[in-house]
Amino acid sequence: MMHEQFLLFGATGDIAAGQVVPALANLLRDRLLPPGFRLHGAAKTRFESDDAFRNWLGERIAKRAGDACDADALRELLRRTDYTSVDLSQPEALAGALKLDPAGGLLSYLAVPPDLFVPIARGLKQAGLLDDPSRLVLEKPIGSDLHSALAINAAIAECVPEARVYRLDHYLGKATVQNLLALRFGNTLLEAVWSRRWIERVDILIAETAGVDGREQYYSRYGALRDMVQNHMLQLLTLIAMEPPSGLDADTVRDSKVLTLRALRPFDAAAAGADSVRGVYQAGVVGAQPVGGFTQLPDQSVETFVALRAHIDNWRWAGVPFNLVTGKRLATRSTQIVVHFKPVSHWLFEKPSRQQAAPNRLLIRLQPEENIELQLMSSLAGPEWGAMELQALPLDLSVNPTRRRRIAYERLFLDALNGRHALFVRDDEVEAAWRWVDSISRAWAEAGCEPQAYVAGSWGPAAAHAFLPQTLKVSA
Ligand code: BG6
Repeated sequence: MMHEQFLLFGATGDIAAGQVVPALANLLRDRLLPPGFRLHGAAKTRFESDDAFRNWLGERIAKRAGDACDADALRELLRRTDYTSVDLSQPEALAGALKLDPAGGLLSYLAVPPDLFVPIARGLKQAGLLDDPSRLVLEKPIGSDLHSALAINAAIAECVPEARVYRLDHYLGKATVQNLLALRFGNTLLEAVWSRRWIERVDILIAETAGVDGREQYYSRYGALRDMVQNHMLQLLTLIAMEPPSGLDADTVRDSKVLTLRALRPFDAAAAGADSVRGVYQAGVVGAQPVGGFTQLPDQSVETFVALRAHIDNWRWAGVPFNLVTGKRLATRSTQIVVHFKPVSHWLFEKPSRQQAAPNRLLIRLQPEENIELQLMSSLAGPEWGAMELQALPLDLSVNPTRRRRIAYERLFLDALNGRHALFVRDDEVEAAWRWVDSISRAWAEAGCEPQAYVAGSWGPAAAHAFLPQTLKVSA
């Protein structure tokens, strides 16, 4: 049975207006939510009435989400919405303020900073709102390092069992990411070549043109490594690199992912120098608009760009570098995974020469478009040419390109409301990811790696260009 009530903490925040409420409105429009569905918002800000909150949220979404949100469905969703103003850091106050009857099933979703997870969970528990079958969904990041993540996971476990906890990473809700599983495990052709024997390198890039704007408080404590690598990038990496699970049930898949995360080679000071670059953007021009530099909070020195050469120390991947690059205020918005295959063992052709030949590659794009492309070599020459010439032939593997693109949260909310865990992150996965990320933070501190300045609108510090996928054709 699908849960009917959705309690949204952080209802006045960016994620709520930008993603969560538009995603729920789309699900409502598509009749994918149960008939009795209700949304309860909670945050600290005071509103005179439920109506005042609804009007405020409606206007904010219209400004931010634009076409991504259906106006009629949003109106209908807001009609089913109420609001509670409460100090989220006070469990007692929270328990007293929430006057909800969890009948029909309640899902509480914490779209708030991680230091509020535990007080909110305690307040919910006190109010009886985590009793079976209620569920708890936690937005990323879970803590800011291994130590804080362990503390959060332990405190949450005292309030609600892991079987009813859903740690959300919205990358897992993207259609192309799920397609990756289909490609990897549904095709003999790919299964046969998915290892160090045939794969030379894997690039994972998440390039954004947006800056930190307005999120300085949060970002100055996290930086690109903890904001993007610890979660989204490592999730992509594990889906590419994990051993085939024996089934698709949540724990079997997550067991496999966790083993991959544990096989990541920790960084030390020497690796920090050779295999990583940190950057921070300065004023520049992005998309013909002048933009300012990143203004850090005093005493902080975080990166808005990171490039890493990661190694997975196991039989399948020994010696294959995984280049991970992410940054804000870069030249274009582009999220892609590129799997580079090795050149063919013996090259028969003159045109192009062996050096000029493009080895096969699988390109999985998540932004700006979602599609998958397999690049093979094929013959260019017609019979009249007299010589054989090869050219790269990109095969478009996208499924139904005309279908409307969904907000990643839509799929994840459906799964959480239905009690499906496979696309959520387990406690030990989060911990393994932090363990590796902490090794990088420590290595940077030991080696004295400070962020290098880059001009907004560029491809990051010049030292990082070698880490970028060649598909970008970046000139140094
Ligand atoms: C969020 C990060 O989790 O993901 C943001 O906190 C980032 O800094 C965003 O901009 C990127 O998500 P997407 O789906 O737009 O690539």
